[in-house]
Amino acid sequence: MTAILVFGAAGQVGRELVDQVWPDGLQAIGLDRAGADVTDRAAVTRAIAAQRPALVVNAAAYTAVDKAEQEPARAWAVNRDGAANLAAACAAHDLPLVHLSTDYVFDGAKAGAYDEDDPVCPLGVYGASKEAGEAAIRAVLPRHVILRTAWVFGVHGNNFVKTMLRLGAERAELGIVADQRGCPTEAADIARAVARVAAALLRTPEAARLGTFNYVGAPPTTWHGFATAIFERAAAAGRKVPALRAIATADYPTPARRPANSVLATGKLARAYAIAPCDWPVALDRVLGALAAPASA
Ligand SMILES: NC(=O)c1ccc[n+]([C@@H]2O[C@H](COP(=O)([O-])OP(=O)(O)OC[C@H]3O[C@@H](n4cnc5c(N)ncnc54)[C@H](OP(=O)(O)O)[C@@H]3O)[C@@H](O)[C@H]2O)c1
Repeated sequence: MTAILVFGAAGQVGRELVDQVWPDGLQAIGLDRAGADVTDRAAVTRAIAAQRPALVVNAAAYTAVDKAEQEPARAWAVNRDGAANLAAACAAHDLPLVHLSTDYVFDGAKAGAYDEDDPVCPLGVYGASKEAGEAAIRAVLPRHVILRTAWVFGVHGNNFVKTMLRLGAERAELGIVADQRGCPTEAADIARAVARVAAALLRTPEAARLGTFNYVGAPPTTWHGFATAIFERAAAAGRKVPALRAIATADYPTPARRPANSVLATGKLARAYAIAPCDWPVALDRVLGALAAPASA
């Protein structure tokens, strides 16, 4: 068995990474925060030494975008120092690292889709701490893949889809931001992309396969567009749905600023790995179906 060690295994993406069937005889070993706190360098090193994986995946992150503005030290500890700890341990054991990052490293001022080498300019603590995590990895570990994703939704954990379903059941009308553009991405699709990246890296570790890549769902939309798709499906399934009102970012002030445009271009990943962007409306059908099933959590 070839082991893939997944840190942050209890998160939205982490759970999918552990639950999925991996290609090429690979098998995931998941560690949640109690199993290995990524801010604890000794714990990270111990875990890698004990499990002897062929590759490490970092799905651990501090992802509370607004709360990060109130407790920046926690966000920096997990997103920068945690990434640095993993990179250092991987370097010491000569292991490749696949690390997840975010569209929020960008400020949203670009008119078109962001390429991997566009200048970063995060607007808040979360984005800045994730960007610092990327930089910490690049500084010590050439054998890395940083996979930037966005607007993650899925069956596990908290996400926009679950929030919409909850608010939709409680309220007659919802105002949803219609002037931020981005790419909803299913957690399970991210896990599948990570598995394909890991398998290809271990099979043929070419230089073109290393570095920073974008992986997001298609087509781009707005939060209002995403909510509309969610409630169309909810209505078709017989649920009570609210009236949706398109509002501006200025009408919905939040502690953290968010990019107006965080659409990511996925051509680089397609060229290096033949991985195409996932179709988020299809993924949304899957997730809503799973959430409606009695055993979902
Ligand atoms: N969610 C999004 O919309 C989004 C968008 C763009 C990019 N991303 C990126 O995608 C990746 C996966 O995100 P996700 O949505 O799966 O996040 P998530 O559901 O919040 O999961 C993150 C996991 O990391 C764990 N964690 C936090 N601090 C830790 C620590 N010190 N040591 C070990 N584990 C720790 C959390 O455990 P606890 O529950 O115990 O805190 C949680 O299980 C992250 O890199 C994130 O930045 C996410």
